[in-house]
Amino acid sequence: MKHFLDIHTTDPAALRQIIDTARATKEARVGLPKAALDADLPLKDKMVALIFEKPSTRTRVSFDVGVRQMGGQTMVLSGADMQLGHGESIADTARVLSRYVDMIMIRTFDESTLLEMAEYATVPVINGLTNRTHPCQIMADILTFEEHCGPIKGKKVVWCGDGNNVAASFIHAAGQFGFDFTFAGPEQLDPEKGFMADARKKGVKIEIERNAEKAVHGADLVVTDTWLSMHDSQSARERRHAMLRPFRVDRKLMSMANPDAVFMHCLPAHRGEEVTNAVMDGPQSVIFDEAENRLHAQKAVMGWCVS
Ligand code: CP
Ligand code: NVA
Repeated sequence: MKHFLDIHTTDPAALRQIIDTARATKEARVGLPKAALDADLPLKDKMVALIFEKPSTRTRVSFDVGVRQMGGQTMVLSGADMQLGHGESIADTARVLSRYVDMIMIRTFDESTLLEMAEYATVPVINGLTNRTHPCQIMADILTFEEHCGPIKGKKVVWCGDGNNVAASFIHAAGQFGFDFTFAGPEQLDPEKGFMADARKKGVKIEIERNAEKAVHGADLVVTDTWLSMHDSQSARERRHAMLRPFRVDRKLMSMANPDAVFMHCLPAHRGEEVTNAVMDGPQSVIFDEAENRLHAQKAVMGWCVS
């Protein structure tokens, strides 16, 4: 039984296989007769529980659609409506759900909830975001980069802003897929040092740069994310915005990256805060391909889990 909990804890060969399968499956959907598509239904007769303890648009809809395209069925559960949100233990919840469903995707707060779910579940568990990581997002991002720019190995990714959960999964991916990663942001919001050290041990450059313009020099991909994540307190808003404003992605900053660099954002974006409209809607932006690729990447993740 295979869980998909994080990029750095998944075998690099499996990660590559997931990306290649996602790409092939996506391409096969275009123009294929329905009979051919229906022939391969790895989730036929399977029920997948999608648990959300935080809001979601992309993760919720892309998993729901993906499971159905693979022949399965879903039930979308809100953590607050489950006994889980009213004191039942995660271990008991995992053991009970495993008697009913064939796979569990969970979006939660503490990573420990995900890990405990995986420890006690007897069906595959997928990480749909925790305060600490967001691996499904980065699998979609790698797929998107490679569709637009070719192999990501040896390329330079620059993250501008908060060293948050999405940045953490990018650092994990740098080590596993072999690309360099530069973090441009304030010291107070640096990504976890342990994650950066582990990626460096795998032979890639993980750098920190306090000047956004210097950071994006030579970048093949510029990425940002919201300045206030779902688990961050609203009371930190003004302080964070003041620290992060120098790292906003605008047209001038993009013009300092490689001429064929692409821009990504996992969405939802706060237009005018971490990124300007001109970049979001500009020629280098691949944000909607990135959002679409959540579907294709996660289908490959689920297929790997049940293979
Ligand atoms: N990018 C992402 O995970 O979006 P949602 O919060 O809408 O799921
Ligand atoms: N960093 C953001 C990502 C949302 C998809 C958050 O955790 O809220």
